[in-house]
Amino acid sequence: MPSQLEALQRHSVIVADTGDIDAIARVGPQDATTNPSLILKAARDPRYRPLIDEALGAAAATPAVERADDALDRLFVAFGRRILELIPGRVSTEVVARLSFDTEATERRARRLIDLYEAAGVSRERVLVKIASTWEGIRAAERLEHDGIHCNLTLLFSFAQAVACADAGVTLISPFVGRIYDWHRKAEGVEDIPRERDPGVASVTRIYQYCKKFGYDTQVMGASFRKTTQILDLAGCDLLTISPDLLATLAATEGEVPRRLSPAAAEASDAARVDMDESLFRWMHNEDAMATEKLAEGIRLFDADARRLAALVGAAA
Ligand code: E4P
Repeated sequence: MPSQLEALQRHSVIVADTGDIDAIARVGPQDATTNPSLILKAARDPRYRPLIDEALGAAAATPAVERADDALDRLFVAFGRRILELIPGRVSTEVVARLSFDTEATERRARRLIDLYEAAGVSRERVLVKIASTWEGIRAAERLEHDGIHCNLTLLFSFAQAVACADAGVTLISPFVGRIYDWHRKAEGVEDIPRERDPGVASVTRIYQYCKKFGYDTQVMGASFRKTTQILDLAGCDLLTISPDLLATLAATEGEVPRRLSPAAAEASDAARVDMDESLFRWMHNEDAMATEKLAEGIRLFDADARRLAALVGAAA
C-alpha cells in the first residue's frame, strides 16, 4: 500500500510551502513556495543566520536610502537560491505586499528580484515571482509575463481574481483553501466544517474547472491547507503547495488517493464563461465578503511580517 503522499504524487505536482531549507531537503519536493511570513520564521532560526549576513554584505554598497529594501530582496533571493539547490523545479519569491496597489512599483520590484537571481546565475525559468492578486498586481504580472518573467498570483480568494489572472496569461495561480475555511469557521462559530462542504476546496474546484474547461494555460496550485482531507479532496489539481507538517502526515499515512479533479470532469462541469474587465472584477470581488476581507487582511499580514523581517535584518547590520 503506498503512502497518501506517494499516491497523491500520481495526480498532482507536490510543492513544499516553507522557508525551512532543511525541511525541503527532507521532503524532496518538485517546487517550493515562500512568502514573507515563512521567510521571517526561517530567518529567526539561528541555522539561517548566514543568509542574513550574506544579504547584508551584498547590500552594503547600496545607497543608504534604498539599502533596507535591497537587503530584504537579497534575503528573499538568498533563501530562494539555497532552496533551488535542493529541488529540480521552481521557487516562488514574493514581491513585498506594500506595493500591492501599484502596478509600476510591483513590476519594478519583480524585475529587481529576477535581476538578483540572474546575477547569481539562476535562470528566470526557475523562479515564480509571487504577487498579490489585486487588479494592479494582475496588470503587473501581465506585463512581466510578456518578458518571460513567470508569475505566481497569490492571496487568491475569489473567482473574479482567478478569472482575471487566467485572462492575463499568468503562469500560475495560488487559490487559498485554509484561509477561506478559517473565515467560514469563524462566521459560523464552529470548530470544523465537514469535508463534504469545505468552502476552500469548493473554491479551488470551481477555479480549476473554469481554467481547464476554457483552455487556459495557467496552472492551478491549491495553497494554504489546514488539514490533509483538504489536500486529498483536491487530488488532480495541477500543483498543491503543502507545509512540511502536513507533508509528513501524508507520508506517514497509508492509503490510495482517488483523483478528484481532472480536465475531463472540468469539461463536463457547468462552468460558464465570464467576460472580465476592471469594473466587473471589482464588483464581483467586492460582492464576496470573505474574499474582500481575506485579501485585505493577507496584504496587511504579509506587509507586517516584511517589516519585522526588515527590522531583524536592520538589527543584524
Ligand atoms: C503559499 O503560497 C501561501 O503563501 C501559503 O500556502 C499560505 O498559507 P497559510 O494560509 O497557512 O498562511
